Amino acid sequence: MQFRDPLLETSGNIIGFYEREFFVFSNFSSFQLEWRGRLWQTSEHAYQASHFFETAPELVEKIYNAKSAHDAYKLAKENIDKAPKNWENIKVDIMEEIIRCKLEQNPYIKHKLLQTGHKLIIEDSPYDDFWGWGENRDGRNELGKIWMKIRKELTSKTILITGGAGFIGTNFIYYMLKKYPDYKIVNLDKLTYAGNLKNLELLKNNPNYTFIKGDICDEEIVKTAMTGCDWVVHFAAESHVDRSIMDPDTFIRTNILGTNVLLRIANELGIKRFHHISTDEVFGELGPIGKFTENTTYDPRSPYSSSKAASDHLVRAYFHTFGLPITISNCSNNYGPYQFPEKLIPLFATNLIEGKKVPLYGDGLNIRDWIHVDDHSNAVDTILHNGKIGETYCVGGDSEKTNLEITNLVLEYFEKGEEMIEKVPDRRGHDRRYAIDFSKIKNELGWEPKIKFEDGIKQTLQWYKDNESWWREIKSGDYQKYYEDQYINRKN
Ligand code: NAD
Ligand code: TYD
Repeated sequence: MQFRDPLLETSGNIIGFYEREFFVFSNFSSFQLEWRGRLWQTSEHAYQASHFFETAPELVEKIYNAKSAHDAYKLAKENIDKAPKNWENIKVDIMEEIIRCKLEQNPYIKHKLLQTGHKLIIEDSPYDDFWGWGENRDGRNELGKIWMKIRKELTSKTILITGGAGFIGTNFIYYMLKKYPDYKIVNLDKLTYAGNLKNLELLKNNPNYTFIKGDICDEEIVKTAMTGCDWVVHFAAESHVDRSIMDPDTFIRTNILGTNVLLRIANELGIKRFHHISTDEVFGELGPIGKFTENTTYDPRSPYSSSKAASDHLVRAYFHTFGLPITISNCSNNYGPYQFPEKLIPLFATNLIEGKKVPLYGDGLNIRDWIHVDDHSNAVDTILHNGKIGETYCVGGDSEKTNLEITNLVLEYFEKGEEMIEKVPDRRGHDRRYAIDFSKIKNELGWEPKIKFEDGIKQTLQWYKDNESWWREIKSGDYQKYYEDQYINRKN
C-alpha cells in the first residue's frame, strides 16, 4: 500500500477549515491511513488505531480506493465491527492529535487561526453524526468539541505583566481581562511607593489573575513569575522625572538592570513575545514644530528618560544578538484613573479638592501630547497580537496641550479661579515640547486613539472626585515627605 505525504494531503482540508471555518473531513478514512505512517512511532493512539488496519487490510484498501469520500465513509462505518472495541474514543484522540500536529507543522495556518480565533462559527459537516459541529453549532459533537478545546488553548495566553500595580499596568490588566476572559495574567510588582494593591482589589476572586510581590532585579523571583508564561509586557519602572532628579540611582537599578534581568530570563525560558513599554521622553525635546517618529534620534535629557533610553537599547540588543522576539512602544503622556497623585493631572485635581494651590512649573508653556490610558492599552494589545517582531511603534494621543491649558481645564472643572495657581521654580532640564507622529502604527496595524481629550479629561477628573479615599490614603503616607522635599524645601 502506498502512503501519501500527510502534509500535502491534509493541508487542503485545514486551509478549507480556515477559510470557511469548516473542517472538510471528506476523506477521513484515507486521512487515518496517511497519518498512521507518520504517527506510528510517536503516538500510542495511532499505534492502537493501526490495529484496525492491521486486522482488516483488504477493507482498508477498499476504503482508500473508494470512488468518493462519501463511499469511503460509508464503507468505514459499515465495517465498524472490525475496529477495536474502543474505536470511537481512539478516533477522537487521533483526530485531536492530527489537528495539533497540523497546526504545529503549518505556522501559516496557525497564524491565521490565531487571527480569526474569536469567530465562533463552524459550518455543519456532512458527517455531523460523529465529526460535525452539531445542529446547534454548540460544539456538542466530537469534532466541534476538539476544535473548541484546541482553539481555546491556542488563543488563550498567559502574560507576565511587570509593574501591574502601578498606573498604566493596573489599567492594562483590567483592559486585558475584560477583552480576553480566557487569558491569564501574572502580575509581578515590587510595590514601591507607586504600586498599590488596592487598585486591583476587584480581581481578588478572578482565577485568571495572580499577583506576585517581587523585584524585577531579583532573578529567582523573575524566573518563578515568568515560568509558564507565553508573553511578557514590561511596565515596571521608576517613572517620575522629578524623583529621578532627586535620586537617579533607583532609576538606573530598576529601569536598566531590572530590564536586563527580565530580558535574560525571557531569553532562557523562550518567551514568545516580550513587549517593552517605553516613553516618548527618550527622544529628548522638540522645538515648536515637528513630531517624534520611530526614526528620531535618541536624545534623553533627564535621569528618567536616560534610563528608559538605555532599557530600549538593551531590548533591541536582545533581539539582534539573541533573537528574543521583542516589540517596543514609545508612548506620550498618559492620563486616566489610578495615576499616582505626583503627576500633573492627578496632583492638580487632588490639590484642588483638598483646597490647596496647584504648583505650575516655570512659564507653564511646556507642551505634552496627552493620551488616555485606555487608548494606550489598546495600542499595546494591538502590538502584542499583530505587531511585527523587532519593531518599535510610536503611540500618541494627538492632543498637544500646554501645562497652562491643562491647569485651566482642571481649575474650570473644580470651579476654581486662577488665584489657585502657584508659580513655582521650573524643573531642572525641563523638556519644552513632546509630540508623537503615530502614522506607523496607524498605517501598519490600524490603531489610532479613540478617546477625545475633552471627554477623557472630564471622566478622569470625575474619577478623582469619586475616589477620594483612594488618593487620600496615598497622599497621607510617605508621599507627604516627598511633597515637602519637592515643593517646599527645594533649594534649586
Ligand atoms: P507607575 O510609577 O505608576 O508604576 C510603576 C509600577 O512599577 C509600580 O507598581 C511599582 O511598584 C512597580 N515597580 C517599580 N520598580 C519595580 C521593581 N524594581 N520591580 C518590580 N516592580 C517595580 O508608572 P506608570 O505611569 O504606570 O508607567 C508604567 C510604564 O509606562 C513605565 O515603564 C513608564 O516609563 C512607561 N510610560 C509611562 C507614561 C506615563 O505617562 N505615565 C508614558 C509613557 C510610558
Ligand atoms: P509629569 O506629569 O511629571 O509628566 P512628564 O514630566 O513625564 O511629562 O509632568 C507633566 C508636565 O507638567 C511637565 O511639563 C511638568 C509639569 N508639571 C508642573 O508644572 N507641575 C507639577 O507639579 C508637575 C508634577 C508637573
